[in-house]
Amino acid sequence: MNYKEKIEQIKKKKNAIIFAHYYQVPEIQDIADYVGDSLGLAQKAREAETDMIVFAGVHFMAETAKMLNPNTLVVIPDLEAGCSLADSCPLDKFIAFKAKHPDHIVISYINTTAAIKTETDVVCTSGNAVQIVESFPKDQKIIFAPDKNLGGYINRVTGRNMVLWDGTCEVHDVLSTEAILKMKAENMDAKVIAHPECNAPVLELADYIGSTTGMLKFTQTDSNHKYIVATETGILHQMKNNSPEKEFLVVPSDETCSCNDCSYMKLNTMEKLYLSMKNEQPEILLDQETIEKAKQPIERMLDISRKLNLI
Ligand code: 13P
Ligand code: SF4
Repeated sequence: MNYKEKIEQIKKKKNAIIFAHYYQVPEIQDIADYVGDSLGLAQKAREAETDMIVFAGVHFMAETAKMLNPNTLVVIPDLEAGCSLADSCPLDKFIAFKAKHPDHIVISYINTTAAIKTETDVVCTSGNAVQIVESFPKDQKIIFAPDKNLGGYINRVTGRNMVLWDGTCEVHDVLSTEAILKMKAENMDAKVIAHPECNAPVLELADYIGSTTGMLKFTQTDSNHKYIVATETGILHQMKNNSPEKEFLVVPSDETCSCNDCSYMKLNTMEKLYLSMKNEQPEILLDQETIEKAKQPIERMLDISRKLNLI
């Protein structure tokens, strides 16, 4: 039996559900019950009625699933699947940073540890960040963590002046403007689409900026036939599936390197996915107090998103 058959079999036997992020390898996306961005995955995890959630993504995503569905066993194929943004924001340094801005509320990108979420007022994702920030009065003082690129983008779009934590995604922050300009020159008919974790000069070149789901929907509804895609390569699988007649070109980090794969996301393999279901580990474990505190800003985000019809 190959891994696909083994996974299908064990999934039925253990009444499990498989969630995958768009940056997973194509085989994992194909076997998943739901593939989505961080917002969609959080919402689906909250609603899941199952004995086991298998989270093919990175650690903060699986941790979010556990917080929103604490009585369900949550496993991740590889416990080392972290995130450079979450790693950039350690709890002790963040508490000290907050202390310097006592009259500010904290809006955190979902790409943070559970510990940072316990120090957060509202969470956001790339799919709702602008609307979450705009749900607060214009004069509300805000700390935004940990992605300075996403925070800077929101500041520009909303005219705010949020205080930004100095973190970046190691994949998106190095995507190169030179490479995009060269690709544009060679493909004048292509539109540029970018994830808001990219740096400001890259975002300035973009015709569309949005979450992975946002970019995917844009390529499905937009009338153009060619796109320069400034994000992790995994998303191309669904773009090509959904619009086989269109052309998608990935942006490298420089002219010699196409290392735009997230090394954390790509730690998950079909073999590890199967073993995590068979052995019911690595399991995501969180103490009750952390769950209670950290899930509040996530629930607030989901409430605001529901009111604004974003989910
Ligand atoms: P999305 O929520 O847009 O899928 O982004 C998650 C992520 O980690 C992007 O690097
Ligand atoms: Fe984190 Fe960047 Fe990987 Fe997304 S692509 S999981 S932000 S390191």
